[in-house]
Amino acid sequence: MRFYVTTPLYYVNDTPHIGHAYTTVVADVLNRYHKLFGHETFFLTGTDEHGQKVQAAAQKKGLDEQLYVDEVVQQFKDIWKILNIEADFFIRTTDSFHKKVVQDCLQKLYDRGEIYAQDYEGWYSVSEEIFYTEKELVNGKSPTGNDVQRVTEKNYFFKMSQYQQRLIEYIEAHPDFIQPAIRRNEVLGFLKQPLNDLCISRPKNRLRWGIEIPFDTNYVTYVWFDALLNYASAVGFEQPGTTREKLMKFWPDVHHIIGKDILITHSIYWTTMLMALNLPMPKTIFAHGWWLTEQNEKMSKSKGLVVKPLDMKDVVGIDGLRYFLTRDIHFGNDAQFSQDLVISRVNSELSNNLGNLSSRTTNLIHKYFNGEAPKLTLNLPESLSLKKTIEGTPEKVKEKILKLEPNLALGHIVEMLTEANRYLEVTAPWKSAASDLAHAGEALALALESLRVAGILLQPVMPTKMETLLTAFDVAQEKRSFNDAKSFGEISHGQKIQKMEPLFPRIQESKP
Ligand code: MSP
Repeated sequence: MRFYVTTPLYYVNDTPHIGHAYTTVVADVLNRYHKLFGHETFFLTGTDEHGQKVQAAAQKKGLDEQLYVDEVVQQFKDIWKILNIEADFFIRTTDSFHKKVVQDCLQKLYDRGEIYAQDYEGWYSVSEEIFYTEKELVNGKSPTGNDVQRVTEKNYFFKMSQYQQRLIEYIEAHPDFIQPAIRRNEVLGFLKQPLNDLCISRPKNRLRWGIEIPFDTNYVTYVWFDALLNYASAVGFEQPGTTREKLMKFWPDVHHIIGKDILITHSIYWTTMLMALNLPMPKTIFAHGWWLTEQNEKMSKSKGLVVKPLDMKDVVGIDGLRYFLTRDIHFGNDAQFSQDLVISRVNSELSNNLGNLSSRTTNLIHKYFNGEAPKLTLNLPESLSLKKTIEGTPEKVKEKILKLEPNLALGHIVEMLTEANRYLEVTAPWKSAASDLAHAGEALALALESLRVAGILLQPVMPTKMETLLTAFDVAQEKRSFNDAKSFGEISHGQKIQKMEPLFPRIQESKP
């Protein structure tokens, strides 16, 4: 099986914030899970560098656009590195190969009559870079509440409207195409109104910073037409004979992970562009929700409500932050973000549940078994039920990941660890060790087994901490695959187990 996952290309009009970090971390986690399952994977992220917003940001700083974008892009790359993002490719829309693909596509569609010129009058939102019709305005503003200005000019249009019926039929026939269901219904609702053709050009006198239209050099192309094509150009679309072209094998398995703010551009602009270009539809467009402030407002740069991802990493560490972002929001819904919420999740599930189990188990193994794994037997009445949970967890995790429910996948691991903690309470090896060493050994060996399986299954979310844990248990690198997680009882009797420092030291909450 192949798995190709993309994040949106982030605008470089400002530095990365927690919202960008969220999409990128979740895509990274999904990608690493698919790798763990043995799938052939490709993970793409990058930056959207053209358009009015970026031009304005460069002007504000008094910098040449290219210099400006080079600077900001480096900040994105640095942060992804720190957050342990393992993308296969980082595309920039200013990459020359990408620009050429965009121009070739424009020319091809123009030659085929899919693009035409027309005078146009409409309401333009600078901050969204979208034209609206009179009807679409709400109280004189864009539907999302931004200022608009009246603009008349000749422009080029893509015949998007002719694909309306085909798109509706495709969405209706493929229930998993746009997810979650609420977003699918939103798109189908949008498609109940007649679809307009899409304005895909901007005159250079209004916008210099873009990809020139090959058949009319007075124009650059609309930033969305340019940016959306990245998903295909990055894997070699329209680049025959290059090494990149081989990556096109991933195309049919592409999953676009986006925020719900860019649902329409992906579900309607992009899909109809793909129809015109004769490319298969993506497997899935998944629109996740927003991180909100404690006042329930979307965290965004323009509103100045921003948490810097690196501020949080100083509080809970990189793996703690990756865990929180994957776990705390039901993928698709909105959720509040605050430092206290992050701390309380990390304390309860990582410090208490996982952390305590690992320090307790390894300490007791040192106390009573000389730091060597005890023999794994199944004589205690409680052992069989924990064994069943441990054996069932890997497939449950996989099922949830394949359904794009990473928070629920983690939920299964948490349940297994909670049961293991309860099992340790009930079997109380610290009491039985003096009188019945075999009893104590069984309890500790089974607790250790649950930790080994959790350690393997949590690698995609917390690669660094799980490396520490699996190394402390002397689990060889080649014994950390999904199949190893499924195989029960892989720690041998007598295997060296290191005593563990708390993996996730408890963090002081700022509120009483
Ligand atoms: N450049 C376009 C996308 C082009 S894709 C071909 C763009 N860029 S953006 O910088 O504004 O990034 C938007 C994305 O950032 C959202 O879709 C989402 O993935 C992420 N988020 C930004 N703020 C967010 C929250 N407050 N919460 C969750 N995700 C958010 O749009």
